[in-house]
Amino acid sequence: MGKVIAIANQKGGVGKTTIAINLAACLGVLDKNVLIIDSDPQANATSGLGVYSDRIVGSLYDCLVEEVDPNTIILATNSPNLDILPSSIDLVGAEVELVDIEEREFRMKKLINKINKKYDFIIIDCLPSLGLITINALTAADSVLVPVQCEFFSLEGYGKLKNTVNLVQSSLNPNLTIEGIVMSMYDKRLRMANMVIEEIKDIVSDKIFDTIIHRNSKIGEAPSLGQPMIIYDAANKGSANFLNLAMEVLKQNSDENAATYTPQTNLNDE
Ligand SMILES: Nc1ncnc2c1ncn2[C@@H]1O[C@H](COP(=O)(O)OP(=O)(O)O)[C@@H](O)[C@H]1O
Ligand SMILES: [Mg+2]
Repeated sequence: MGKVIAIANQKGGVGKTTIAINLAACLGVLDKNVLIIDSDPQANATSGLGVYSDRIVGSLYDCLVEEVDPNTIILATNSPNLDILPSSIDLVGAEVELVDIEEREFRMKKLINKINKKYDFIIIDCLPSLGLITINALTAADSVLVPVQCEFFSLEGYGKLKNTVNLVQSSLNPNLTIEGIVMSMYDKRLRMANMVIEEIKDIVSDKIFDTIIHRNSKIGEAPSLGQPMIIYDAANKGSANFLNLAMEVLKQNSDENAATYTPQTNLNDE
């Protein structure tokens, strides 16, 4: 059975999709079978992995609302060992269409149960809201990984997400854990970014990954070419950030390939 990790934070633009795409791609390069589920109607993970409408035969909407078999919808990406369950704009309507359905919070869990055996990791890229689709993702997930931008007010967003996680734990999914917080878009030239990291370390008791994702122009460019960083420019420092994050996730999940890996903070990377 694959481990299901939801990448969530109800704030937009904090690096969820970027981390989802690149963590998934790096786990694939490290020989794991990986599925990314794009649960944001904006479909940035879908296009960011080079999957465009000419190949898409259906989307997460069809699987959630119409209960279409996900095996008929999932597509391979150009990145090794990485498949995608694409999103589409229809998903905007799903929140409303699911409201009257029985066990509406468990639709994604049911869907994942149909495909879980094929994968080592299933990464869900969540949308920036705490609505029914995100609740479905958290109900289906084993853990939640939270990207937090190195900015003021980022802890406020984290607090709200934690409340939702607590709620889901107490009613829908008691086994849900926090995989950890990933600090994203770090710019070491900004004193504020360092202050935010210190503040988060002081206040938050959840795991904070040692790997920090630096702000890097190539990371911003790669999705427009439909490629994860590791395919776009494997030698770039940004690719190393994501590979280290993937190793840290493997280590935390007792994967033998990461047994000797020692995570290190990389605050001073270029
Ligand atoms: N480390 C980074 N360095 C440079 N640009 C980044 C980085 N992480 C994300 N971005 C860019 O910032 C924007 C928002 O990131 P995204 O991952 O889409 O956030 P979210 O999914 O939380 O809305 C995107 O244009 C993305 O390419
Ligand atoms: Mg996104």
